Parts: sequence; C-alpha cells; structure tokens
Amino acid sequence: KKITIINGPNLNLLGKREPTIYGDGTFEDYLKKLKNKYVDIQLEYFQSNIEGEIIDKLHEVGFDYDGVILNAAAYTHTSIGIGDAVKGIETPVVEVHISNIHAREEFRHVSYIAPNAKGVIFGFGLKGYELALQSFL
Ligand code: DQA
Repeated sequence: KKITIINGPNLNLLGKREPTIYGDGTFEDYLKKLKNKYVDIQLEYFQSNIEGEIIDKLHEVGFDYDGVILNAAAYTHTSIGIGDAVKGIETPVVEVHISNIHAREEFRHVSYIAPNAKGVIFGFGLKGYELALQSFL
C-alpha cells in the first residue's frame, strides 16, 4: 500500500515547539520507528509551512495513493483551499492532530477538513499517526 503523511505549518519544529502540548520527540525519529514497524507499506512524508504546497501535494498523491494522513496544523482551522482539495481528490484522507483540539481554544474546534475526511483522530500525541495508518490496513 502507498500512504503519505502530510504535515502542515510549524510541525517541522516538533520536539522543540511547546513540548508540553506536542511532546519532545522529533517527527523524523517517530517516522523512522513507524517505517520499521510497517515495512510492507510504502510510507512517504511531506512537510510544508506553505498552504499552496500542501494543496499541490494533495493533488499529486490524491488519485493513485491508498491513503493520506493529514495534519494541516493551523491551516485546519482556516483553509477553505485545503478543505476543497481534500474534497476534490479520490484518495481517502484521515485528519490527525497531536493535541486534543477540542480541549483547547475555540478557534481550534473548527475544521475545514473534517467534513470531507474519512475520519479524524486527535489527542493521542504522535500515536495518532499510527492509528491513522492502521485505519488504512
Ligand atoms: C495541531 C493543532 C492545531 O490547532 C495547531 O495549530 C497545530 C498542531 C495538532 O497536531 O495538535 O499546529 O494540528
């Protein structure tokens, strides 16, 4: 199976950024473990701080991949463009958030992605990406 993880803005800082909320591990370390555990899956990873690049990546993988795991970070709550891209592609998208967005500020309770996602996983830390991966197996 071919699955892509897409991380949005500021998630390149994982490990350094607000560790009480997002943990102190880097995404690269986590990804290495995930790849070692799921050797049969072609697991790809893309991170961008730029909205249009996330949309371009969704278009690129959105018609011949088996799944997309998308943490659009702050764009989740603002981007109609990313929401439309998720709606427009064929590959199912699972939305992931590291933190429990519903236990945080009100503006994080809104998602432009969720209405067109296969499902949403939030509040389980980095483990959420593995749970999303398992949902495609
Ligand atoms: C996040 C939650 C968002 O509200 C926030 O803007 C992020 C990360 C999460 O994974 O918990 O950058 O998507």
